[in-house]
Parts: sequence; C-alpha cells; structure tokens
Amino acid sequence: MLLRIYNVFMATTIKVIFMPNVLVIGAVGQIGTELTMELRRRYGGQKVVAATRKTPFPKELEQSGPCIFFDVADKEAMKKVITEHKIDTIYQLASLLSATGEKDPDLAFQINLIGLKNTLDVARECGVKRIFWPSSIAAFGPTTPRDNTPQRTVLEPTTMYGVTKVAGELLCQYYSKKYGMDIRSVRYPGLISYKAEPGGGTTDYSVAIFYEAIKHKKYTCFVGPETVLPMMYMPDAIRGTIALMEAPREKLTVHTSYNLAAISFSAKELAAEVARLMPGFTCDYKPDHRQAIADSWPKSIDDSQARQDWGWKHEYGLTRMSEDMIKNLTPILQNKK
Ligand code: SER
Repeated sequence: MLLRIYNVFMATTIKVIFMPNVLVIGAVGQIGTELTMELRRRYGGQKVVAATRKTPFPKELEQSGPCIFFDVADKEAMKKVITEHKIDTIYQLASLLSATGEKDPDLAFQINLIGLKNTLDVARECGVKRIFWPSSIAAFGPTTPRDNTPQRTVLEPTTMYGVTKVAGELLCQYYSKKYGMDIRSVRYPGLISYKAEPGGGTTDYSVAIFYEAIKHKKYTCFVGPETVLPMMYMPDAIRGTIALMEAPREKLTVHTSYNLAAISFSAKELAAEVARLMPGFTCDYKPDHRQAIADSWPKSIDDSQARQDWGWKHEYGLTRMSEDMIKNLTPILQNKK
C-alpha cells in the first residue's frame, strides 16, 4: 500500500516537474524559434503553445503544436490562452532588440516593458507557476566595469532596450518578492545561430558574417575590428535557459537576472576564424551608429553565480561554434539559391 502511494506520488511529482504546460510568447523571434522546438521535443508538441504577433508561423512550428496569434498588449487574449491551455509556465520573449529599439523607443518600451508587466499581471491572476524572461548585456552601460563584469554592478544603459532590461529585471524581482512568484531570467550575451536571424541587434554582425562569407566570401562589418563583446552559440543558450527553468527554486539566489557567459572575441578574431575555415574570405570594417552601443557594453562577463547556483556551463568555444555555423548554414543557403 505504502509503495503504491509512493509510486503515485512520484509519478505525479515527475509529471508536475517535467511536464509543464508551456506558453512561449515571441515564439517566432531569434530565441523563440529554437526554444519552442526544443521545448516541444522535451515535453511534447501539444504541451507547448507558440504565440506571436509576427505571422506567418514557420512550417516547423505550425506542424508541431498549437500556434496562436496575439499581442502582448492584449491582456484578455493572453488570459484566454492561459486558461484554455491550462498554462503553468510562460517564456515571455517578445522584444525589440537594441538597434531597432533606438529607431522606435516608444514601441520598444511598450513591447519590452509593458509587455512584460502585462504578462506578470496576467500570470499572477491566473496562478501561473513559473515565468522566464530574458535580460541582456544591454542592461549594462559605459559606467559598468567592462572586463569580467560582476553579477551585481552599475546598471546605467544608454539605449531604450537597455533601460527596459534594467526596469524589467527590477520588475521581476519586485513581483517575486511581493507576490511570491517564481520568475527566472538571464542576461544573454550576443546570440549566434544559423536557424533564425536576429534582426535589429548590435551583435548581429557576428551572425551576418557567416551569411555573407558563405554567399559572397566577403563581409563589411558595422563595428570596428577591435570591438570585443560577449557572445554565445544558440545551442548553449537554449540548454542554459531550460536548465535554469528546471532548477530547484531554492537553489536560485538571483531574482533580477543571472549573468550568463560563454565566449568573448573581437570582430577581427571572428573574421580570422571564418577566413581560416573558408580560405579566400575577406572582411572590412565600416563602423556605424551601432559602434557606440557596442562600446557601451561589457567585453566579458563573470557568470560564476549561475555556474554555482544551477550548474551553468557553456560547451561551444569560437572554433567549435564557427565550424558548426558553416557546416549547417552552407546547405541552407545553397538550397535557397
Ligand atoms: N543581441 C542583443 C542586441 O544586440 C543584445 O541583447 O541588441
């Protein structure tokens, strides 16, 4: 009898821990596209609802589970999805990136910050158990120490994107302390991927260089050769995000947003690596308005708190990442011709 009770208890516990009903808001963005598919592989297609205001949905997403159109401004629509699909876990990824945010700061504020607040309010009302929200290295600014930037440090960003990230981090901490909500977050570095293009970020050159190298064997980089920024390959970012979301709550000591790091390199070092793998490739440099944004961000990040609290560890260095990018992106671009 006792054994039966134990078994039922364990089965329920495992189900509760590992089989969440998930809503991904911003499922068609740079992170969402890959994260949604990975969550569906992990928990089952029907358990992960993909939501976006950017249609059409990519085929892969549409065919593997529920897809819904709504805007983060629309709290009623959000409530309806959460109730209908019994959502207990939300990944709120809807966001404008740094360069696009500077073109339309009002829209960046609406989507990035009001969108987050709407999500937190609806989640609280509906009793959602766990929420993920991405912050960024953009939360830092020119007054932040740039090398090995600490977890707790000066946050005085100069972009609207950065302002929404700092305010968003504090909002997450406020809601977790005031209402006991379980909200988790990381400060992503620049993310590099061959699946979904970033669009509108300052770190986009580290992705564009691969596209242009494969297509034209040359690239004109919009930041100077000595520009160093923290970067990460998308598979590491996805793995890290899910690891944080599955970590026991009592292990987490940061309720704003965890520093998360992998690799730091200069634009020149990246170009040299691409040229090594693709002989004949050349890169020149024409810095534009994004240079000032890049110069206001850290060069490297101290993520020891994430490593200590929930076992974060990156796997991809510059060479492994570059090899994998070229190997996977080449057939994709050749098929598009
Ligand atoms: N990749 C982002 C950007 O460049 C930073 O979070 O805007």
